[in-house]
Amino acid sequence: MTLSQTTRVKNSTPSSIRVMFDLAEQADHDLVRLEVGQPDFQTPAHIIDAATAAAKNGHTGYTANAGIPELRAAVAEMLQSSYGVPATPDGVTITVGGMEALHLAMLATVEPGQEVLLPSPVWPNYPMQATLAGGTPVEIPLSAETGYALDADAVIERMGPETAAVVLCTPSNPTGRVFDEKPVRAVVEAAAAHDVAVIADEVYLGLTYDRAPRGIAGYVDEHEHVLTIGSVSKTHAMTGWRLGWIAGDPAFIDGVNTIHESTTSCAPSIVQHAALAALTGPQEPVVEMYETFKGRRELVVDRIAEIDGLSAPDPQAAFYAFIEPELSGSSLSIAKRLLSEFGVVLAPGDGFGTAGKGRLRLSFANSTAQIEEGFDRIETALRSW
Ligand SMILES: Cc1ncc(COP(=O)(O)O)c(C=O)c1O
Repeated sequence: MTLSQTTRVKNSTPSSIRVMFDLAEQADHDLVRLEVGQPDFQTPAHIIDAATAAAKNGHTGYTANAGIPELRAAVAEMLQSSYGVPATPDGVTITVGGMEALHLAMLATVEPGQEVLLPSPVWPNYPMQATLAGGTPVEIPLSAETGYALDADAVIERMGPETAAVVLCTPSNPTGRVFDEKPVRAVVEAAAAHDVAVIADEVYLGLTYDRAPRGIAGYVDEHEHVLTIGSVSKTHAMTGWRLGWIAGDPAFIDGVNTIHESTTSCAPSIVQHAALAALTGPQEPVVEMYETFKGRRELVVDRIAEIDGLSAPDPQAAFYAFIEPELSGSSLSIAKRLLSEFGVVLAPGDGFGTAGKGRLRLSFANSTAQIEEGFDRIETALRSW
């Protein structure tokens, strides 16, 4: 007899991004991979050197649950100076990637049976994390016509005594949208009035192209209701190092540090030293990667505009375009055909909730040549389908 699984596991399904990734890995023909959401750059050398030095210098043991003091201080300083977030070192927990930070945020805010409001298109990890915390994810669909602007009225209307948290992913994965300050302020104000947490997922904030990046906690009055999630993954090409943080009111973060002991206790000590070098060392490689993504964004906007039957709101940040091809069928079936018949791999939009139906996420975390080739293949598919 096999070992029974909990409903928590049975209710969890692999995201359709993963499905496409696995299909692409198995394929035996030449593919253009535009489904993956991670920088196509190597981690800058000085960061790797810092990790090596940390290991050689004996930084190989557990650290405090909250992380090493120098890194907590560096994160607080960076949040304050780069994004206006009023963070203090005692209000920062260093985590194993932004993902663990989000998981801890859910565990610390959601009582079993409570709801987590998720403006959608929604990154699939949130509903899974909300469910694992015993909560119920509730999608609030945003409209493609507004470029997936935050609909504050729709979020506030759904907020009530049963609401534990609302997740604002800005800049957004998968749409590349940066939410405007006015609706964000309205949502945070309502959240504070209902004692609801605002989980601000800002892992892409450093990749904002057309305006100065500002963290939500930096411009709202009720910043003690905001939990800021960040990481070095996307901005510093460090996805595999697994280093992130959660920042908030020190009294709240104290409790997060306590439960951190049950998940990983602390982020790896060597990686914490590498992240310290990433935040306090030379920033030229980070600026170079940013400029490269920004240039690719222009290319993506131009190619979408010139291809008949393809549209998308212009990405304002991150490295995603959420495209709508004029093709019939589910997003998954379109993505599978694009892979098998045309050799281009995209993430199905319906993996990002109901608001993603019929759409596909295109990641431009790939070389200019590959992006051009990918669009050529999509264009051929649209002509011949
Ligand atoms: C929206 C969003 N939030 C958080 C994360 C977490 O990233 P990491 O755990 O690598 O910091 C990701 C990674 O893809 C993401 O897309």
